[in-house]
Amino acid sequence: MIRFENVGMRYGTGPEVLRDVTFELKAGAFHFLVGASGAGKSTLLKLMYLAHRPTRGLINIFDRNLASIPREELPDIRQRIGVVYQDFRLLNHLSAFDNVALPLRVNGAREDVVQKHVGELLGWVGLADHINALPPTLSGGQKQRVAIARAVISRPSLLLADEPTGNVDDTIAVRLLYLFEELNRMGTTVVIATHNKSLVDRFKHPVMRLGDGQVRTEEDEADWGAGLRRDAEASFGTKGDAPTVPPREL
Ligand SMILES: Nc1ncnc2c1ncn2[C@@H]1O[C@H](COP(=O)(O)OP(=O)(O)OP(=O)(O)O)[C@@H](O)[C@H]1O
Ligand SMILES: [Mg+2]
Repeated sequence: MIRFENVGMRYGTGPEVLRDVTFELKAGAFHFLVGASGAGKSTLLKLMYLAHRPTRGLINIFDRNLASIPREELPDIRQRIGVVYQDFRLLNHLSAFDNVALPLRVNGAREDVVQKHVGELLGWVGLADHINALPPTLSGGQKQRVAIARAVISRPSLLLADEPTGNVDDTIAVRLLYLFEELNRMGTTVVIATHNKSLVDRFKHPVMRLGDGQVRTEEDEADWGAGLRRDAEASFGTKGDAPTVPPREL
């Protein structure tokens, strides 16, 4: 479904954010993507949903070499990819319902089908009472759930979710993971970037870890704890360097 071979990516003239990234995602796979803040998770997802071109290396998507896909065919390919953006990107002048309905309507779905599916899905993510709300009047977690509903409503071939549970409580996070798993059972390949260790522990899907600009899969490294410690030490030094908290004035 997706293959990266020695992919490198930098923003402008900055340092390489990703270097020599090599991995393969098979159709029907379900992966978590983890790594420290700033490691490049969003960047990797952007390459997968074709928002950026790599600065070097080879990307195959839906078994085609990205470099050889004509520009005018890119929108068709993007339509097969559902994206939950880290910053949601809802249309503020459209209601929650209309945001979620948009991909179906763009595909020419009948209005009775739109009403049924969008209503059902928004109910499922716990937003039955907010169907007509405009995004600016919703909380962060509510907006996040609208963004998720919009990404999954048209059953994409590939779902890329960037920290999709970052703004919700644990109960809702688990419910959202069930939604992603259901979508995966129906054939969607799923990649979820997350910092939520308890979700990764609870839902036993293979983990891709980003560090030093490279991706390691679970076979390379099974222990999340060791990875986390290494990330923290690389960013902030060892625990002994922790700043001393000043005593509270009594
Ligand atoms: N548009 C941009 N222009 C320049 N540098 C960027 C841009 N976007 C990201 N970067 C840099 O690329 C690196 C990786 O960023 P990225 O957003 O991919 O990390 P991340 O793993 O998603 O982090 P987080 O967990 O905080 O979301 C960071 O050093 C960041 O500063
Ligand atoms: Mg990110």
